[in-house]
Amino acid sequence: MSAILTTGGLGFIGSHTCITLINNGFDVVIVDSLVNSSKETLENIKKIVNSINELNDRKIYFYQNDLKDKKEIDKIFNAQISLRKPIDAVIHFARLKSVQESVKNPLRYWDENISTTLSLLSIMAKYDCKKLVFSSSATIYKPRQDSKLNEDSYQEPTNPYGNTKITIERILNDLFLSDKSWKIINLRYFNPVGAHPSGFIGEDPKIKASNLFPIISKVVLGDLEKLYIFGNDWPTPDGTCIRDYIHVMDLADAHIAALKFIKINQPQTISINIGTGKGHSVLDVIKTYSSVNSIDLPYEFSGRREGDAPFVIADNSLALKLLEWEPKKNMDDMCKDSFRFINSSNGM
Ligand code: NAD
Ligand code: WQD
Repeated sequence: MSAILTTGGLGFIGSHTCITLINNGFDVVIVDSLVNSSKETLENIKKIVNSINELNDRKIYFYQNDLKDKKEIDKIFNAQISLRKPIDAVIHFARLKSVQESVKNPLRYWDENISTTLSLLSIMAKYDCKKLVFSSSATIYKPRQDSKLNEDSYQEPTNPYGNTKITIERILNDLFLSDKSWKIINLRYFNPVGAHPSGFIGEDPKIKASNLFPIISKVVLGDLEKLYIFGNDWPTPDGTCIRDYIHVMDLADAHIAALKFIKINQPQTISINIGTGKGHSVLDVIKTYSSVNSIDLPYEFSGRREGDAPFVIADNSLALKLLEWEPKKNMDDMCKDSFRFINSSNGM
């Protein structure tokens, strides 16, 4: 029996994916430095897994390590062999998160996001572990006003964070060209939101987040008086920006589908969009959040945010076709689950 290594597996997307992996019969090895997550999430993952199936004999192996520490990561690969649970494939989530911080401190982002990936890849090669799912992002595309983005859409990231993502995809491509036994999938996520329906885990960053749902959470909790909507003069039906929000549990399922795809297909490197293919404006999100949770969300229009685009939606047809996956949850679910998580984690 082997196991799947998730780097950054206690983060927002990683934690939900770990639950889905375990529920699909995989053993999971988590390496996380806790720079943007906490050990409590590990306990909550265990709680959820055990509540679903008490007889679940799948194991979670947790290592609190920084991926930069190459020697320690090497030891983890070795330790898993000794435990007779060698690492068979890696889902690489770990990275620093803030787009804004990446603009202020590009060298830190290049160093963290690229050097960690390079050392991870060299250790994977050493242990002949050549299956990788990489967390890429829609941020690598140049947004278009007239159409959805497909995998061949023009790429032009506008910040160092996005530049590191596109660079890692290129490194992975070069790696494959040098050794055609690798199986690599870049999943390009659009806007992941929501939480596990149990309310035990959700988006709970340590580092200040300025994305829409974390800001809504702060307004709900009273940490912020109101939400500022960045512009109501965009060329969209209600003047606010449109995004492709995807429920984090649907995204977690996409990782299982990606592992299955890797298992049955020839070695290759491929990039696949993961979104719903549907757009919601900021005002749509606020209206839905308020109505499904019966709360008032105060907001005010402010100026446009630098770097925003009016319309970012996935053409997800490749994922539907190749991964035999489809998103099942809608905006009501995203808003309800997100609200349930902040209520339960804040004792409301
Ligand atoms: P997150 O910050 O919640 O999770 C990342 C995890 O990695 C955290 O638990 C953090 O502690 C850990 N980590 C960071 N650097 C590390 C290091 N050097 N060593 C070990 N652990 C480290 O982020 P997330 O939202 O779950 O994102 C996961 C992945 O998905 C990232 O690669 C991100 O770029 C990608 N992505 C996220 C979004 C989004 O909106 N959340 C969108 C597109 C792509
Ligand atoms: C969504 C919409 C804002 C906050 C970012 C990254 C991208 C990806 C996902 C990682 C926009 C509006 C937001 C607020 C607002 N991450 N908004 N008031 O910008 O689509 O994408 O996260 O790869 O790289 O750039 O997401 O959640 O920040 O914004 O009006 O206080 O909400 O203008 O239209 P974005 P977001």
